[in-house]
Amino acid sequence: MVVGNWKMYVEAPDAAKKFATSLRKKARSFAGAEAWLAPAFPLISPVAVDLKGSAIKVGAQAISVHAEGAHTGEVSAKMLKNIGVSFAIIGHSERRAAGESDELIREQLTAALGAGLTAILCVGEDERLPDGSHFAQIANQIHRALQGVVPMGRLVVAYEPVWAIGKQAADAMQGEDLEETAIFIRKILSEALGRDAVSRVPILYGGSVEPANAQTLMKEGGVNGFLVGHASADIDSFIEILKACKK
Ligand code: PGA
Repeated sequence: MVVGNWKMYVEAPDAAKKFATSLRKKARSFAGAEAWLAPAFPLISPVAVDLKGSAIKVGAQAISVHAEGAHTGEVSAKMLKNIGVSFAIIGHSERRAAGESDELIREQLTAALGAGLTAILCVGEDERLPDGSHFAQIANQIHRALQGVVPMGRLVVAYEPVWAIGKQAADAMQGEDLEETAIFIRKILSEALGRDAVSRVPILYGGSVEPANAQTLMKEGGVNGFLVGHASADIDSFIEILKACKK
């Protein structure tokens, strides 16, 4: 699976719809890989309308922890579900940097799963340290996010090392390092959720995935797909990455 995190890159409904229509038309070229798209809030509806009836999933980049009521500026999981959203990205490092705490991330996870959305939980170290202490940061993020959370719906974990985000393929993580981290994440998840549950949790990699490194990372990295930022806003790049993930 390849999840496109559009961030604020795609700005206008026309551009979003053009992208969605084109992706849908070319879906046969990446058959065997699942395409998921997370537009910014105002673009979710136009994209969802365009993709209705297709296998391409539409999601949100964030959700409110609140289910309803007096919360100005917030958007609930239920409101999103009502317009065709099936997943939400939770705990992205750009939102953690903007002040989201582990507790808030746990509450968002509970809200998403409770509303029947798939939750994509993002974790990842700020820096890769020679003493390996970045592994503790990843483990803490996972344990804190999943504490007391019963994964009622589907959970996906996206490993996104902060230092590798928003660069070019050459500066992204290498396959070997990714494989080692993916194994570590599976171990931590099985401590948190039990071994049976973990086999059902896809693990994605995110951080400068581009057509130039997608194939190698897929072959060597031991992950089930990618969470793609800047390269997902370009239709040709996104399709090339999807093709690299075909079974
Ligand atoms: P990037 O972003 O592909 O532009 O590095 C990935 C992400 O932040 O999800």
